[in-house]
Amino acid sequence: MAEYEPLVIERAEGVWLFESDGRALLDGVSSMWCNVHGHRHPKIDAAIRLQLEQVAHVTSLGMGNPTTIRLTQRLVDITPGNLECVFMSSDGSSAVEVALKMAFQYWRQCDEPQPQRDLFLAVGNAYHGDTLGSVSVGGVSRFHAMFDPLLFEVVRGPCPDSYRLPEDVPPAEATEYYLSQYAELFERFSSRLAAVVVEPLVQGAAGMVMHPPGFLQGLRELATRHGVLLIADEIAVGMGRTGKLWACEWEAVAPDFLCIGKGLSGGYLPVAATVTTREVWNAFLGEYAASRSFFHGHTYGGNPLGCAAALASLDLFEEEATLENVAQQGAYLQQCLAPLQEHPQVGDVRRRGLIAAVELVADRESRSGYGWAERRGQRACQAALSKGVWLRPLGNVIVIMPPLCARPEHIELIAEAVQFGVNAASWD
Ligand SMILES: Cc1ncc(COP(=O)(O)O)c(C=O)c1O
Repeated sequence: MAEYEPLVIERAEGVWLFESDGRALLDGVSSMWCNVHGHRHPKIDAAIRLQLEQVAHVTSLGMGNPTTIRLTQRLVDITPGNLECVFMSSDGSSAVEVALKMAFQYWRQCDEPQPQRDLFLAVGNAYHGDTLGSVSVGGVSRFHAMFDPLLFEVVRGPCPDSYRLPEDVPPAEATEYYLSQYAELFERFSSRLAAVVVEPLVQGAAGMVMHPPGFLQGLRELATRHGVLLIADEIAVGMGRTGKLWACEWEAVAPDFLCIGKGLSGGYLPVAATVTTREVWNAFLGEYAASRSFFHGHTYGGNPLGCAAALASLDLFEEEATLENVAQQGAYLQQCLAPLQEHPQVGDVRRRGLIAAVELVADRESRSGYGWAERRGQRACQAALSKGVWLRPLGNVIVIMPPLCARPEHIELIAEAVQFGVNAASWD
């Protein structure tokens, strides 16, 4: 905090952020990975205004609102598999927290209870939020190590990192290599596992780590075989970010819990959801005296203004062919970033949909990174800022996640700024 000098943004329009002095900055990370159709989209603005003329907030504790109900119905219609029941909250961490608590309680209240299922299987370097439950299943030591004494026990598998595979494992065998280790963990803890938690395809805060193809599907198969619930945290990768509405769709996976946040409201307002199956829902039904309730209430969960924004955002996916744009601009981004792959200080350039990462390394051969205190990623992003592009790094990784409405001229500007930033960060 002693060195903290935030940019102050007074207004925004489309992909552009404007500082108080009028300087325009391209929002290269979608305001922390959540903006979808651009800032101040007339349709989302109008939907919020219309809702405001009805009511700004109605609690979801013992009440409801037509807009909130419409959104939950819409989520049931568009989520994969037989996800049919929706629990609304206000942020991604809570959406994960809800999934963890529900899974735990499910095993105590389902038709054939298995109360010994008290462990979660988590993925190495995972990030699921900053509340203590989500931190417990998280695994980014720089963020989480401080809180270790406060966390519950989890079983942790390796991080299925396509870039940092051990030398003796050929890329074609990466999926099998990682899945075999998960298979052992499932075998070993089979009867104690309540659920396995995963960020499908791309682990965001780990540094946009990309999983080898088939890993998610393999994990689903293992979970099914061992009767373990699968929690898919699509808070970062959902809402079209990877080029399909849900990352799970790429591998035809239906999770038991889908956690949605960030872009759900188009990146406008804090709205999150945990969507699950009727099988799970049924475990919470019963007479009052049986006390099967799920005790987890958030003041603003299901807030109608946020839900109105979310409904308008979902309409825009169709009206503006957002997913097609992600496919086109994603491919173009990859093309524009490709020359960086040859840069001596760049270890990897990776991309999925409109998520891209340029990883700076001290040594390409060993893939060893710079020490975090060197702030190489920060230096690169600071230099990119001078070219009019706002980026926020994760350690040595320059993260590129523009709004899904980005056009080719925005992609070109970002790629030029990143190139400039990488050069600036390479000087000793
Ligand atoms: C995969 C993932 N899960 C959960 C969260 C937490 O979401 P929130 O910051 O809304 O609590 C994040 C935030 O970056 C995330 O990337």
